[in-house]
Parts: sequence; structure tokens; C-alpha cells
Amino acid sequence: MDRVTQLLSQMTLHQKIGQLVQYNANLFIRTSADITGPQAQLGLSNEDLAVSSSVLNFSCAKEVIAIQDAHLRDDPLKIPMVFMMDVIHGYRTIYPIPLGLACSFDPQLAEDCSVMAAKEASADGVQVTFTPMVDYVRDARWGRVMETAGEEPIVTSAMAKAQIKGFQGENMADPERLATCVKHYAGYGGAEAGRDYNLVELSMRELREYYLPAYKACIDAGAPLLMPSFNSLNGVPSVANSLLMKQILKDEWNFDGVVISDYNAIGELLSHGIAADAKEAAKLAFENGCDIEMCSSTYFHHIPQLLEEGAITMEQLDAAVARVLRLKEKLGLFEDPYHGADPEKAEKLFLCPEHRQVVRRAAAESAVLLKNEQVLPFPKDTKTVAVIGPFATEHGIKGFWSCQGRDEDTTTVAQGVENLLGADRVLTARGCGCLWDDTDISGIQEAVELAKKADRVILCLGEPQNYSGEGNCRTDLKLPGVQELLAQQVIAANANTVAVVFGGRPLDLSGLDAVAPAILYMWFPGTEGGNAAADLIFGLRNPCGKLTMSFPRSVGQCPIYYNHPNTGRPHWTAEYKHRGYASDYIDCATLPLYSFGHGLSYTTFEYSDLSVSSQELAENGTIQVRVQVKNTGDRAGKEVVQLYSRDPVASVVRPVQQLVDFRKISLEPGESQWVEFTVTEQMLRFWNMQDQHMTEPGEIRFMVGYADHFLLTQSINRI
Ligand code: BGC
Repeated sequence: MDRVTQLLSQMTLHQKIGQLVQYNANLFIRTSADITGPQAQLGLSNEDLAVSSSVLNFSCAKEVIAIQDAHLRDDPLKIPMVFMMDVIHGYRTIYPIPLGLACSFDPQLAEDCSVMAAKEASADGVQVTFTPMVDYVRDARWGRVMETAGEEPIVTSAMAKAQIKGFQGENMADPERLATCVKHYAGYGGAEAGRDYNLVELSMRELREYYLPAYKACIDAGAPLLMPSFNSLNGVPSVANSLLMKQILKDEWNFDGVVISDYNAIGELLSHGIAADAKEAAKLAFENGCDIEMCSSTYFHHIPQLLEEGAITMEQLDAAVARVLRLKEKLGLFEDPYHGADPEKAEKLFLCPEHRQVVRRAAAESAVLLKNEQVLPFPKDTKTVAVIGPFATEHGIKGFWSCQGRDEDTTTVAQGVENLLGADRVLTARGCGCLWDDTDISGIQEAVELAKKADRVILCLGEPQNYSGEGNCRTDLKLPGVQELLAQQVIAANANTVAVVFGGRPLDLSGLDAVAPAILYMWFPGTEGGNAAADLIFGLRNPCGKLTMSFPRSVGQCPIYYNHPNTGRPHWTAEYKHRGYASDYIDCATLPLYSFGHGLSYTTFEYSDLSVSSQELAENGTIQVRVQVKNTGDRAGKEVVQLYSRDPVASVVRPVQQLVDFRKISLEPGESQWVEFTVTEQMLRFWNMQDQHMTEPGEIRFMVGYADHFLLTQSINRI
């Protein structure tokens, strides 16, 4: 008999339910015997906690070891607890927010970052991370866009697969690795009006084409856990949505890993008005395949009765418990219940020079040079540099989900520049605040005086890091407070200014773009953000990030995304011109301010000779698409070569452009390289009205360049 079967044969019902719940650590480290606080609110007894077998968002090697020891001492079956946490963009050494990291278009970099985070987190007692988050997004109002890879499923899947590889390695029992959990299944990023937790209504075609592929890619890449999302999808919250949970996840995709609810999502079935009471909530979630209930207590209270009534069966219960036990086996917890947790090792790893190096590179490669009218790079012999603005000396640039990262460990832009030039050549002024009610303009004059005195100015602007992330949605995407006014006056005083912007989402930079000759978007870059900004500004590194999410000209354009379907009255010119009775606005251009795929470099690249290996592509066929790219500038640089397609005539309306594949290459000055893409017919498929995934005969166009701005085009015929 294998271990799991044997354990199941020995477990009481109470012990089985204990495997299917997850609570915060404060329930386990109570100092008194009284049942108070969250435990009382959840109606949990000490006996319930004694069998509860997983812990949410808690780490610290010493205490994890202590909790595990106490648990194993009291558990007659010696089933270890599992510790899970949101290690999203670093553990203690923090790398850029996922939306920033995606702009590197560099899966290897994402893998390197994940390997580093896994080492730190596992040494401190974490065994499972709730990452990757692969929600597809189009609306910058939603605060959680910062956790995503943006508006392109191919990029999202590529980055997520790399993260899974980095966190899990070959074997998640390795004490330096973690298990991953793909989330939030499904469609969470489609929240209506960009408001978190709001309903999501999507056609099956939208869902299958844009939203589902990345979750599927993660399952195929071996993510052993999946978290359903909070939102209702087409009327039913995910955790109770049989189409998502049974038909697609289990029947179509054969997912046999652990499903864990989001925080209190089963309890929230009552607020949704889907369950009349907690018992019905438990039944709905359980019968739809939710194995672990996070932070509500319907399973403890109602599974016994549901079993008695025959609403669920012992077979189903055993299958759910077996999935959890198997996860613990895969993690090697029965052999090493601490999974390598080691306080001394953790301390050595945190912020060590190698880890700082990884996140510095990641921060630099994630930054996107949005605009540069011959301002950057600044010469290293610049005599005096004024670092101005609310983010000049701000440590809070690590981003919302920065786990155990600390602001005080983070280098500011001013420090980064000082590290490079020496403190005596750097002047700083705050100018103004960055909260939306920061209307005080009294500091602007001092900033202007400083700008006049300095040879060059680095103007550090943005939104605070807690304006994005879970629950932090905005209806106004402009730079908060009086930052635009500060920018106007500082730039008027010194034209040698670069605006360095921090944000957790694409902000509306129309006002800034109108005055700033150069804009470098840093996202929230993490621990080494200030040093990375300095590296880029002074040309020690050449910017290479490209946007994975469109920057709107105004919040009124949201949702806005490059791969939008065509209309009967398209507005399709790069220059804005209101035509009347076209799909456009009378008061704003249709295209974004900066599109998907946009990002400048200090060098230039020339594309030529786009060619295809055949003029025809059959069903299940393959074709090679080649293009030559040359570095025509005088600096080494990296370019993200982007191949797009368009299906101009089909039985359903197709996107005006769609990324097929991408490749990031490095070129020395004068060097050229052939880039070859292997395109299969499957990669060009779409979902038709009959819910079939297919291509249709007819023209297919390939384009290279950047969304809304193609350099070369080639057509083939799908026969
Ligand atoms: C979030 C999840 C997260 C969970 C546990 C929830 O509020 O939606 O993304 O993994 O909390 O922290």
C-alpha cells in the first residue's frame, strides 16, 4: 500500500478535513488557551486547529520549524503541515513587479529571478508560492495589472512557464525550490470597469482565445496547484463555476493537482448571493473540485453533514485529501518537514551581492524608455545633476507584493546617482508630493532653482506603490497631485531633463509627454531600483524593455489593447484625425499614447528581408519566417524582435494584429543577425462560431516591428 492510501485508511473524518483547510499562522501561535480573535470568528475549536494542516502567508525559519515540530509532536499520523506564501516578485531581495519584468521579454531573466526568490523563501520556511499570476488584462484602472504580464497571452505564458521552471526546478523536493500555484482562474483581469472583485462577462471565444491559454500553459508546465478567482464569470463565481472547474479544468485539461480557494472565496459565495448559507457554499465549492478552503471555515462546519446527507461522497473526500497528501509527498515533506528551512542560511542569502546583482539587471531590463529626444544617456562627466521630485529620495519603489522586502533596503534614485558620480555632484529637491490630495505647490520654486543650477535634471515622478495591487483601483490614471505642474516648471527651467516615472500600471502620461523630452518608465523596480535607474540614465546599460501593456492617452480609452478585433468602421491611421461616424473619439486619438511593443534604445535597429519559406501553409503545416536585424547605431544593444500576424478575412472578426512569437537578441554596433521563427498552423488558430479551434483557408499576413507600427509585411496563403 502506498503512503497516501495507508494514511487515508488511518485518518478520521476530522483529520481528513484538516488537510483541506488553510489558515493564517496567528491561529497556530496563540499564547493563551482562550479562543479569541480570528479563530473565534471562524468558529474553530482548538481540536480543529490541531488537525489543520496548512499555513498561509507565514515565514521565518525559526518559527516555521517550531510550528512544524509542535504539530508533528501532537499529530499521531505525523503528517507535516505545508507553508504557503505570496512570493510574487522576490522574497527579501525584490525584483520588478511582474508587469515590469514582462517588459524585459526575457523568460530566462524571469527564471533567474525565480531561482533566487525560491532560495531565499525556502531557506526561510516557505514551501509553496502563490505565483504565477497569469490573469489577462486590458484595463489599467485595475490595481492588479501590476501582478500580470499584460495584454498578450503569448508573453504571459512564456514568462509564467519560466517562473515555474525557476521556482520548481527539476524536483520541488529540492530544499531550495518551491511548488507554484497558478492563479486566478479565470478571467479575474476582465473585471468590469477595472474595479477589483467586480463581475466578469466574457464570450466563450474571448475566454478561450485571450484569457485561458496562460492558465493552461502553466498546468502543462507542471504547476501542481491552481487558485480559482474571486470574481463571477458569466454569472457564477469561479470556485462554484462548473464550466471552469469541471468541464475545462478537469475534463479538457486533465488537471490532477490541488485546487485552493482564494482568501475567503468560499465564504464569499454568500455575499455573491450564490449560496443561501455556509453549508451550501461548502457543497458548491467542494463538488466543483475545490480541495483546500482558504480562510473561511465552511468545510470544517459542514462537510460531515454533507457526507451524511449524501450530498458528497467519502470517495470524493478521499480523492481531495489524497491530492493534498501527494503535494506534500512531492515536496518531500514526509522526509524533511522543514523543506530546508534554515535561519542562518536565510540570513546569508538575503540581499547578498549575487542576489542584488540579479535584481539590478532585472530592474534595468524591465525599464522602458518611452521617449528620448536626444537627452539620454547623460555623460558620466556631468558636473552637477539635480535629482528632483517626490520619488527622488523615495525608498518605496519595491512594489505592492514585495513579500519580506523592506523599503529601507531599497536604493533610491538619488542614492543610485550618488553611487555613480559621488555625493558632491548630486543635488536633491522634493518639489511636491505624490498623493492625489498633495496640492501643495510651495516646494516647486526651490526645485526650479535647483534645476537652473544643475547641468542636468532627473525628475522622479509617479504614483505611490500602494496605489496599485490588490484592491487598489483608480479612475484617474494621471500623475497624482501637482506633479505635472512640477514637470512643466522644472523642464522649462532646464531642458536637459529626463522624467523617470514609477508606477504599478500604465499611467496616463499625456501631460508629461507634452513637456518632457525624455521619459524612462521604471515600474516598481525593487531593491536595486535606484542603481538600475542610474545605470540606464548614464548609459552603463542600454534600455531594452518593451511595453507589454498599452499606455492610454486618457482613462477614457480604457480598456485599450493592441490586439483588438477590427470594426466595420475602423480608425486605422497612425495620425489622429476624427473622421465622423468612425470607431473613434471626437476629443482624443484612438491609438494609445504608447503601444504594446514600444520601447526605445540608445542604438538603432534596421529590419530587412522579411521572407517566408513557403507561400502556402496547410492544416497542421509549418512555415519558417525570417527577418534580418542590424544594429545601425554605435552602441551594443538588445532588441525584442516581434512577429505579428493578421487574418484579414475570416468567419469571425479577427484582431487587427496579433503577436505570433518574439525573440530577444543582442547585437554589437554594426552587427546583423537573421532571426528565424517557426510558425505552425496551430499557432494561428482561432475559435470559430462552432467553438472549434481552427484556421480557415485564405490570406495570412505576417508583420515585424511593433504594434501599430510595422516595418515589414509578407503575405502567405493558408490552403
Ligand atoms: C489574493 C491572492 C493571494 C491570497 C493569499 C488573496 O487576497 O487574491 O492573490 O494569493 O490572497 O495571500
